[in-house]
Amino acid sequence: MSAQPRTASLPQGAAVATHEQVLRPPVAAQEDRRDLLRFITCGSVDDGKSTLIGRLLWDAGALPEDTISALARDSLKHGTQGENLDFALLLDGLSAEREQGITIDVSYRFFSTPRRKFVVADTPGHEQYTCNMATGASTAQLAVLLIDARKGVLVQTKRHSRIVRMLGLRHVVIAVNKMDLIGWDANAFARIEAEYRRFAVELGFSRIDFIPLSALHGDNLLHPSEKTPWYHGPTLLSLLETAEIAQATDEALCLPVQWVNRPNLDFRGFCGRIAAGTVRPGDRVRVVPSGASSHVERIVTLDGDRQTAERGQSITLVLTDEIDISRGDVITAYDSPVECADQFQAQLFWMSDQPLLPGRSYEAKIHNRRVGAQITEIKYRIDVNSGAHLSAKSVSKNEIAVVNLSFDRPVPYAPYQQSRALGGFILVDRLSADTLSAGLLDFALRRSSNIHVQAVDIDRSARESQKLQKARCLWFTGLSGSGKSTIANLVEKRLYAAGKHTYLLDGDNVRHGLNRDLGFTDADRVENIRRVAEVARLMVDAGLIVLVSFISPFRSERASARSRFAPGDFIEIFVDTPLAICEARDPKGLYKKARSGALKNFTGLDSPYEPPSDPELRIDGAAASAIEAAEHIVERVLEKGHKD
Ligand code: ADX
Repeated sequence: MSAQPRTASLPQGAAVATHEQVLRPPVAAQEDRRDLLRFITCGSVDDGKSTLIGRLLWDAGALPEDTISALARDSLKHGTQGENLDFALLLDGLSAEREQGITIDVSYRFFSTPRRKFVVADTPGHEQYTCNMATGASTAQLAVLLIDARKGVLVQTKRHSRIVRMLGLRHVVIAVNKMDLIGWDANAFARIEAEYRRFAVELGFSRIDFIPLSALHGDNLLHPSEKTPWYHGPTLLSLLETAEIAQATDEALCLPVQWVNRPNLDFRGFCGRIAAGTVRPGDRVRVVPSGASSHVERIVTLDGDRQTAERGQSITLVLTDEIDISRGDVITAYDSPVECADQFQAQLFWMSDQPLLPGRSYEAKIHNRRVGAQITEIKYRIDVNSGAHLSAKSVSKNEIAVVNLSFDRPVPYAPYQQSRALGGFILVDRLSADTLSAGLLDFALRRSSNIHVQAVDIDRSARESQKLQKARCLWFTGLSGSGKSTIANLVEKRLYAAGKHTYLLDGDNVRHGLNRDLGFTDADRVENIRRVAEVARLMVDAGLIVLVSFISPFRSERASARSRFAPGDFIEIFVDTPLAICEARDPKGLYKKARSGALKNFTGLDSPYEPPSDPELRIDGAAASAIEAAEHIVERVLEKGHKD
């Protein structure tokens, strides 16, 4: 192997000037008609991705002086390249920052050549960072996938390829890196190409290029390498400079109306922040969901009228016709695919250590909205290698799945294939705010537009006044054997005696009927609580005081149960009895069974219990007797503020 790399030696200086001259002639800003290619690089750890981007930026003269001197210092101190610049350090420093728990963090780097401008989404390659890759890919037009020539096509390569395709990219460049380490073996390169092509047939990329590279030494990056006389294709840079730039598909205007501004009879403006697309006076627009149409008369902003406005800007639109538009409606281009819906088929790329649980309540961030979201059904999981559809009850980290998804209210959207901005979303954990999944909407389920809320005349307050009580939900949570059901039973007797109308939903009982199909896996417990919370909500609507006594071990499901009720209507009662005491009581002999191994997933033993951090009431199950506890609760329920 030649030991004479093209890596710049220290001290450097001339190299920067040379590259600056070659690649960055001064171009006046207003004359800059060069187009812009957005691309991402994906690879596994140690594929040489950092080196590749670092090298490209260096060679393109895109590094500021201070970065170069810092890199020079770091290379001497921590580098793996002797006297030479270690380009990997340039990006590894950033990766370390990412490990501080920043969830979605793609840094975009800009560089340019006389022919074109580039934005490269710099996405770390570790498995756990594939999520960042997904985010980067959602705005990119081309992906450079790195393959280590020694390792060939890996599962990770296939996963990245699927995600890149799923996110709508049609052009991939396979950079077969570290060719120097296999002696520039043309046959090995051909084998990798053949294997990748076989795999990629079903993905339907419109173009796949293969380049033999050494990112470290710069071979075939900017200049054709003499090490590859058998390779007649372009260098990486010339490929990037000539790649066709797909037309942006995000043009459809989407302006969710946040406020209707009507200061006097002569002015009516619709204010909001543009979620996607652009708008100009004269544009024909349509209102979702009403379907009414009009034309844009003026675009008003704080700085006066504008001739055009685009995504991200806050504007007030004045239309030529008097049409009915209210807050929450969406103004869109007349012929755009934008509609409103709350149920969808969607594709998910799951990125979290916690598996997807159908029925769990997540938060979705879609364009400029945040809404509650649940997976109502996992249709199938996709085998990363073969593309086969596999049946699945849950989805784990790095898996891709097709699901039915339900938002808790209608949102304006367009299918991802027509608008990345309006069809892409992420799912976030409600409590930790961690990003769980990237997703894209395929289409709305028709059921969502066909089911309307039916107005009824006899409502909750009518039923409450008939019963002379204020309806609410008393939610008892705690370990098996903690005393929840005993206490709930006593509370109900006391309330009954006080003339209240009540109903007790007990885990063991409901599991004999409504929830008899459910067991004790995490997924089943989530569904168990979802159903009983919904039943409790109906009963509160019926005017009853409902007592729910379920272990309900997960914070997330208790939070989601709480969110179904108005503030003050949900009273969480934590029956806090230490595990040792519950186990000593063991009223049903289940702890004994679980300890002997005859019962799996037992709460407190091999299945978690997440205690409430801020319940309305905490009962010390070790100290208080059930009767005292019940009295305390009844007092609280009947006390002022909780009374009718
Ligand atoms: S929950 O976790 O999904 O909320 P739920 O309250 O409905 O549980 O049911 C708990 C009851 O089921 C317990 O009181 C116990 O009698 C019984 N049970 C049977 N198997 C288990 C298990 N693996 N874990 C917990 N409880 C179990």
